[in-house]
Amino acid sequence: MTKLKAAITAVHGDLPDYVLTNQELEQMVDTTDEWISARTGIKERRILKGNGLATSDMGAKAVKGLLDKRGVSPDEVDLLICSTVTPDMKFPATANLISHKTGIKNAFSYDMNAACSGFIYALVTAANFVERGKYKKVVVVGADKMSSIVDYSDRQTCVIFGDAASAVLLEPTMEDVGVIDHQFATDGSGYVHLHMKAGGSLRPPSYDTIDAREHYVYQEGQPVFKFAVTKMAGISRDLMAANNLQTEDIAWLVPHQANLRIIEATGNRMEIPKEKVMVNIQKYGNTTNATIPLCLWDYEGQLQKGDNIILTAFGGGFTWGAVWLKWAY
Ligand code: UT7
Repeated sequence: MTKLKAAITAVHGDLPDYVLTNQELEQMVDTTDEWISARTGIKERRILKGNGLATSDMGAKAVKGLLDKRGVSPDEVDLLICSTVTPDMKFPATANLISHKTGIKNAFSYDMNAACSGFIYALVTAANFVERGKYKKVVVVGADKMSSIVDYSDRQTCVIFGDAASAVLLEPTMEDVGVIDHQFATDGSGYVHLHMKAGGSLRPPSYDTIDAREHYVYQEGQPVFKFAVTKMAGISRDLMAANNLQTEDIAWLVPHQANLRIIEATGNRMEIPKEKVMVNIQKYGNTTNATIPLCLWDYEGQLQKGDNIILTAFGGGFTWGAVWLKWAY
């Protein structure tokens, strides 16, 4: 019997106007365009400037564009999930604010946080709602204003991150397309290498935490790098093996955009040819929850119905995973 599946039927993104170049970063910290380009592949990233603008503003623009593109009215949306590590406020959920700003009134909405793996976790969560048959129009948005938690005096992290949002619409289908399978994993012991020290219940904000610059991303680059390569490649291969997928069956690999060297090493380990690996890190840097849908948006014109696509991500937690989907249009 054919099973109801959740298909991505539209993708859209939002990129803030301000372009922060490597040359501008050279004026801010002790770094060079040469170092950033060679070690990360990043040339520029977008920054959301302006008072009163937050993650939900980028998310709302991405969602509005998404619904317009598909000709779907906000009233028709049943559920909106936002994956983010930079919510506008600790509560309520940024998803609620995005719904409010886009006129989505008949949906319930909530946030998910799995750091850089957030989008793929949210995608599969949303797909489960669609596959049950009750929800017909589900929006998943990955959005982060990373500039709000990046220390622009720390050269190890400030060169990497950027701001953006990107969203997909999921709809039910009986065709052989959509989200097919996934594998996810978590290792909480990895928190030591990548976290934000203060601002939570462990270390609530105080003068001390501010003086110690603890409200920023803390990252030990090298261990995170090693885990990212081995875990993304490993779990993607496991997912392919479980589904009898050969390398030549894969039309596109969409890796989380954290570092060009990680992306290339992941592709090499999986023996996926370079031209099938989506890369846009040079333009946007690491936008955390937005990287994977931003890739789909950038490459949308090259995708064909039925394409086998592997999405893979690794992030703070540690969290990692891979999703197999068949492109639906
Ligand atoms: O998305 C969430 C998951 N995050 C990731 O996947 C990120 C994984 N990690 C990375 O991408 C890389 O580890 C980084 C890009 C963060 C760092 O690159 P690296 O090749 O691992 O550099 P490193 O930390 O080993 O540092 C090498 C040198 C050091 O100098 P010494 O000790 O050799 O003198 C650093 O101090 O490069 C120095 N360095 C810099 N130099 C110029 C670190 N950052 C910079 C910089 N400009 N921005």
